[in-house]
Amino acid sequence: MNNPKVVMLGLGYIGLPTAAIIASKKLQVLGVDVQARVVDTINAGGVHIIEPDLDGLVKSVVSNGWLRAALKPEPADVFIVAVPTPFGEEKRPDISYVEAATRSVLPLLRPGNLFIIESTSPVGTTRKMAKIIFEARPELRESLRVAYCPERVLPGKVIYELEHNDRVIGGIDAASTQAATDFYSIFVRGGLHPTHDKTAEMCKLTENSFRDTNIAFANELSLICDKAGINVWELIELANKHPRVKILQPGTGVGGHCIAVDPWFIVSDFPAEAQLIRRARLINDFKPLWVVEKVKNAALAFALEHGRKPLVALLGLAFKPNIDDLRESPAVQVALGLMGGPEADYLVVEPNVEQWKHGALTPLDEATRRADMLVFLVAHRPFERLEQHAHELDFCGARKNR
Ligand SMILES: NC(=O)c1ccc[n+]([C@@H]2O[C@H](COP(=O)([O-])OP(=O)(O)OC[C@H]3O[C@@H](n4cnc5c(N)ncnc54)[C@H](O)[C@@H]3O)[C@@H](O)[C@H]2O)c1
Repeated sequence: MNNPKVVMLGLGYIGLPTAAIIASKKLQVLGVDVQARVVDTINAGGVHIIEPDLDGLVKSVVSNGWLRAALKPEPADVFIVAVPTPFGEEKRPDISYVEAATRSVLPLLRPGNLFIIESTSPVGTTRKMAKIIFEARPELRESLRVAYCPERVLPGKVIYELEHNDRVIGGIDAASTQAATDFYSIFVRGGLHPTHDKTAEMCKLTENSFRDTNIAFANELSLICDKAGINVWELIELANKHPRVKILQPGTGVGGHCIAVDPWFIVSDFPAEAQLIRRARLINDFKPLWVVEKVKNAALAFALEHGRKPLVALLGLAFKPNIDDLRESPAVQVALGLMGGPEADYLVVEPNVEQWKHGALTPLDEATRRADMLVFLVAHRPFERLEQHAHELDFCGARKNR
């Protein structure tokens, strides 16, 4: 396939940077999104998401004519799906966006086309989409290539990692795997690892479940150590002196839109088998509730000692250190679980965001000057100099980067 024309379906955190990188290799890319605001912003050379270096890249490929955006797809050689896959009722994966994107290109597909899904998807999604396509367009059964290729980029480093990370590529047949591998070789410098579609789908879910399970181990240790009167941070540091032990750091819980979500895609489809993965999710989901109770108890103890309720500073709201993303954040859950309660008054500090829809934010200096208690919910860099106070409160959250 020489100079393939590409259609990217979904122009969010994954789709837009990927479309821009492909366009930067001087391939014609049409980005499609259902939101007119997104399409208009990109066609004006702007971006609607915050990601280092993305704005300059998009501006350049749009002004050079390699990338444009539209509300509807057009005929092309390669179609890539990068739309959301949230979970719905009872934590069941919702692949309706993937299906809608697939159906939107049904009339446009031609023999020799390559159809790729990048959205994080439950095992079997690629085959389900292939079935939808071939039922509607049976004449394409021998000539359409269909593959799955998951995305592993880290927000904040997306532009670098899109090119340099290894990719796992699984087609529904050998010809599809080969066609997709050839396509990714145009813009990926990392290794390209061919496999089957179901293995590629499971690989993405496995990576995030591995992280979640390991964090759950650290979080469970933190509960045990609290009860046993052991400093969990010291314990983990010592245990990690073993040459084959590498325990992660406990924290307030697990958040974000990937690690806290993707393991449910396995649990939902394999409820009898996925015992450990399910338990890890429950342990990590329980941690913010536990932190809430610990803070309330500490506040009550303060009140007993001082005859008044304390002013408590909650430090951090983001789902991990040094970012501004509050989605699915356990620190937000803790703050909401505490604020308005009778045990204490609260100041909330989040240096990485300007505003918070649930309440006022207080500058760090003011909060540390006024507060009776500090609760470290997220290990943001500006909180590091306060570490000497952390020994009193280290059950409450993360002191170190995970
Ligand atoms: N953001 C990440 O760091 C990350 C990392 C790895 C994998 N993923 C996965 O990648 C996929 C996309 O995630 P994201 O963060 O880019 O989502 P996002 O919400 O930022 O963007 C998705 C875009 O798709 C658009 N869209 C929805 N339905 C559409 C349709 N039928 N046709 C065209 N556009 C449509 C939405 O309007 C939105 O702009 C998800 O499956 C996610 O789990 C995300």
